[in-house]
Amino acid sequence: MFQDRTYCGELNAGLVGREVVLYGWVDRKRDLGGITFITLRDVTGVAQVVVNSSEASDECARTAEALRSEYCVAARGTVGTRSAETINPDLPTGGFEIIAGSVEILNTSELPPFAIDHHESIGEDLRLRYRYMDLRRPFMRDAMILRHRVSQAVRNYLSEKRFIEIETPLLNKSTPEGARDFLVPSRNNRGMFYALPQSPQLFKQILMVSGFDRYFQIVKCFRDEDLRNDRQPEFTQVDLEMSFVDASMVMEIIEGALGVMVRAALGREIELPFTRLTYDEAMSRFGKDAPDLRFGMELSDLSDVFSESQFGVFTSTLEAKGAIKAFAAPGGDAVSRKMIDEYGEYVKIYRARGLSWARYRGGAFEGGVAKYFSDAEKKSIVERMKPEDNSILFIVSDSLNVVNDALGNLRLKAARDLGLIDEDKLNFLWVTDFPLLEYSPEDGRYYSTHHPFTSPRPDHVNMLDALTPDNVQNIKAQAYDVVLNGVEIGGGSIRIANTDLQRKMFSVLGIGEEEAKVKFSFLLDALKFGAPPHGGIALGLDRIMMILLKRASIRDVIAFPKTQRGQCLMSEAPSPVDPAQLKELNIGLVGK
Ligand code: AMO
Repeated sequence: MFQDRTYCGELNAGLVGREVVLYGWVDRKRDLGGITFITLRDVTGVAQVVVNSSEASDECARTAEALRSEYCVAARGTVGTRSAETINPDLPTGGFEIIAGSVEILNTSELPPFAIDHHESIGEDLRLRYRYMDLRRPFMRDAMILRHRVSQAVRNYLSEKRFIEIETPLLNKSTPEGARDFLVPSRNNRGMFYALPQSPQLFKQILMVSGFDRYFQIVKCFRDEDLRNDRQPEFTQVDLEMSFVDASMVMEIIEGALGVMVRAALGREIELPFTRLTYDEAMSRFGKDAPDLRFGMELSDLSDVFSESQFGVFTSTLEAKGAIKAFAAPGGDAVSRKMIDEYGEYVKIYRARGLSWARYRGGAFEGGVAKYFSDAEKKSIVERMKPEDNSILFIVSDSLNVVNDALGNLRLKAARDLGLIDEDKLNFLWVTDFPLLEYSPEDGRYYSTHHPFTSPRPDHVNMLDALTPDNVQNIKAQAYDVVLNGVEIGGGSIRIANTDLQRKMFSVLGIGEEEAKVKFSFLLDALKFGAPPHGGIALGLDRIMMILLKRASIRDVIAFPKTQRGQCLMSEAPSPVDPAQLKELNIGLVGK
């Protein structure tokens, strides 16, 4: 019944005069009395089908009349060129049309919940509920096609580089990536649960022990964490692991991978190699471990400049061993008093007590806290910050963490407000040498900054013996993140390949012998059997697509995403289950 089809978006001059069959959905229909123009849409684009009642059969004309939006149809006809005045220059197929010989309705459609027109803004709940209709819109369709191309490109690239794609299990023991697990009860093992993988971390390390020295997988990961615009409870990683490598070799592979991914998505070349910053440098210059370098406004430490300040807030900060840092925003005239007040409130979100400011104009400081600046201080500020004329200084004095957090975020906000970000830029960056551990005063214990399998720098291993909450920052890991436009798009590390060191890490993290045995004995055992030195990384595919396609939400690059509350509005998951199912699993609900 179905014949070799021609795709709507692929009409071209070579087909003129030929008879073709198109399958698709009615995008639009215009009835001009005796002549009907039907815009037919399929996965490639649209084509214009013309039914001229004076030439077409009665049946064809009747069918054309009955067509409504989103009916699924087959149209057969001859490809023609449009007359000069009817050419649509906005469409790739705008110079052609099909003079229909027959139109067949394959299926009717109810009135669509929204027009399948990418110019219209539609409430997201409605889009997610009728995702099958939303995916017909070019906005979503293009994202899916580009995502496919990017996946293909990276898969080919890695295969060419001798990586082997190996699937790892979804029903797992818990892997600690720092989020909560999604648990799956086991019917056959009463009272026991699988955890869905937060990543294939342990399995890929085991594969290195097995001798597959280059592994990759485009893989779903599951994390039960608070959702944001760039986070989903299930998301996709381009996950890889390599043996006999150092950090630079992993980075080189990833730079190549991101190069082919950007080419596949945008047809653009990226600049290689990426800039590298250590974690300490990123924090000191930008206040963030994933800084956006598409614009300047670097932070300067002015603590020493203000060591004899007349301003009480500064002196009390320095007495409390805090820090005073600042950045200068160019185009200060655009920053009104109202904005300054707003920014003062904004930094409080990051626990700063307040924001100081001063304008720099014609070589002089004025307004805000300028009245407290001595001549020597003014001179030092100008020397260190080299502010442009007509800029405005924003200063935060507080504990160093608060200062970095507040100014790092204000720097981003001000850049957006002042239009300093070139949205077409792709700024890739490596951040390296992360601290191995973090200390949580609330819990009185240490946590891994990346994960417990990350190797300390070889020259820092001994420092673990003298670990204190005060020196924890100094022990660095062989860990690296890749950042795109200020968003962490991937992270990885060189791993611990030695059972004794791995044991030691567990003990530092407060994971006792017994717990380590229960949770990770298979890894600890495997490491004893000639584990090669190894390391790897995982890229967040959804995030990368979101940035490359300039989408405001990660949901706009995922076919069937979850809402911020973790729900699928189309299938209505999660949902209650049959009590019989729970009984079979030996599960009772508390409070039901
Ligand atoms: P990590 O936890 O840094 O590393 O994850 C790697 C990348 O995955 C993306 N990502 C997410 N994307 C969307 N929604 C989420 N909830 C989410 N969580 C993470 C980020 C992140 O950079 N096993 C290690 C990798 C390794 O060490 O090789 C891991 O999973 O872009």
